[in-house]
Amino acid sequence: MEEFQIKDKSLAPQGHLQIEWASAHMPVLNHIKNRFSKEKPLKDLTIGACLHVTKETAALVDALMAGGAQIALCGSNPLSTQDDVAAALAEKGVHVFAQRGQTTEEYYWCIDKVLDYKPVITLDDGADLVGTLHSKRTEALENVKGGTEETTTGVLRLRAMEKAGSLKYAIIAVNDAYTKYLFDNRYGTGQSTIDGIIRATNTLLAGKTFVVCGYGWCSRGIAMRAQGLGANVIVTEVNPFRALEAAMNGLRVAPMAEASALGDIFVTATGDINVIRKEHMQKMKDGAIIANSGHFNVEISLKDLEELSTKKRTMRPNLEEYTLKDGRKLFLLAEGRLVNLAAAEGHPSEVMDMSFSNQALCVEHMAKTEKMTPKVYTVPNNIDETVATLKLKAMGINIDKLTPEQQKYLATWEMGTT
Ligand SMILES: NC(=O)c1ccc[n+]([C@@H]2O[C@H](COP(=O)([O-])OP(=O)(O)OC[C@H]3O[C@@H](n4cnc5c(N)ncnc54)[C@H](O)[C@@H]3O)[C@@H](O)[C@H]2O)c1
Repeated sequence: MEEFQIKDKSLAPQGHLQIEWASAHMPVLNHIKNRFSKEKPLKDLTIGACLHVTKETAALVDALMAGGAQIALCGSNPLSTQDDVAAALAEKGVHVFAQRGQTTEEYYWCIDKVLDYKPVITLDDGADLVGTLHSKRTEALENVKGGTEETTTGVLRLRAMEKAGSLKYAIIAVNDAYTKYLFDNRYGTGQSTIDGIIRATNTLLAGKTFVVCGYGWCSRGIAMRAQGLGANVIVTEVNPFRALEAAMNGLRVAPMAEASALGDIFVTATGDINVIRKEHMQKMKDGAIIANSGHFNVEISLKDLEELSTKKRTMRPNLEEYTLKDGRKLFLLAEGRLVNLAAAEGHPSEVMDMSFSNQALCVEHMAKTEKMTPKVYTVPNNIDETVATLKLKAMGINIDKLTPEQQKYLATWEMGTT
């Protein structure tokens, strides 16, 4: 069987340095890795992973291998693979099938390759691996014991599969752990999305009108960081609670029909489809910049943008200029794929430390559990708490403990106004 397929083996030395740098900022994962090397809880386990092939993912792969697992890995987006990291992983003996700038066909070919290894546990980010297993590769389902899912969109798709009675094995929704979405989605996406926009454009955010579509965990992080750099943020929402929260956080809230005429920069992070479409593009200012940080490249209608345009030029890496029929120019970043991974490096290692520690501990939990009914599970509370406690310890932060009197008081109802 083919061992790996990557862009360029000679990039490995730089990849090893990148992984070393990431790993140095992932103390919780390192703690787990050290225990795994002694206890080997994943001995002889084949793991099939579809994750963004970044330096932080490589640190997770190292931890899983230290536990005794063999790994087959493909990217979870055609534009997010760090080719030097992929080369280093191949050198470490990982069956890695990933390359930056793939076509959709090549992307699914890599998923197929991972499934050829007959994984017992799957790690997914966006549920493309699980989707392929349940549609075109059902023969590989019999080996699978369980899996994990990293992101909001993947969890939504898996819950839809569960509801339809189609889900054939247990999946733990890592995204829904407190130590994942509160930090990774908010601070990780917040910082790295701004990083991607700046690397692609080097534009000044101060004084600009910055429209954030959505006010969920990712989008509120993006709004918070854009505001911190001096942008005037407008939020669009469909959920009344979240719109209210944005308003009370001091942000202007408006429908997209209104915001589209005002924005200098637009970012989607909703997990929804066609959030920015023709009617909005028709109103946008000349020079407006459009980017997406949601999982799939469906949030900005590329079809509409193409239809409205007469000319397209690549100005810089990850920056496409579209000239519209009326002469206005709109600038699309990273082909509408997640800008933080395509135009920057994804989340900083410090937040991925928590997300991937949850991944490692959930894989161990599944490996040790006899049988789990096919459904979507939340991360066991003890795992989530362990990750938070270890992270605080690594950061040198101590917190208080409840006294016995406080424990008793909080568990009883008799004591009222005194
Ligand atoms: N770029 C990354 O690295 C990264 C990281 C984590 C998650 N994600 C992805 O980002 C997306 C959002 O994740 P999340 O955790 O913030 O989800 P979330 O559910 O917390 O937030 C999504 C928000 O978008 C709003 N929304 C939906 N349709 C809308 C529309 N048409 N207009 C305006 N608002 C709309 C929803 O009401 C909700 O408040 C998902 O696709 C997720 O998989 C990306």
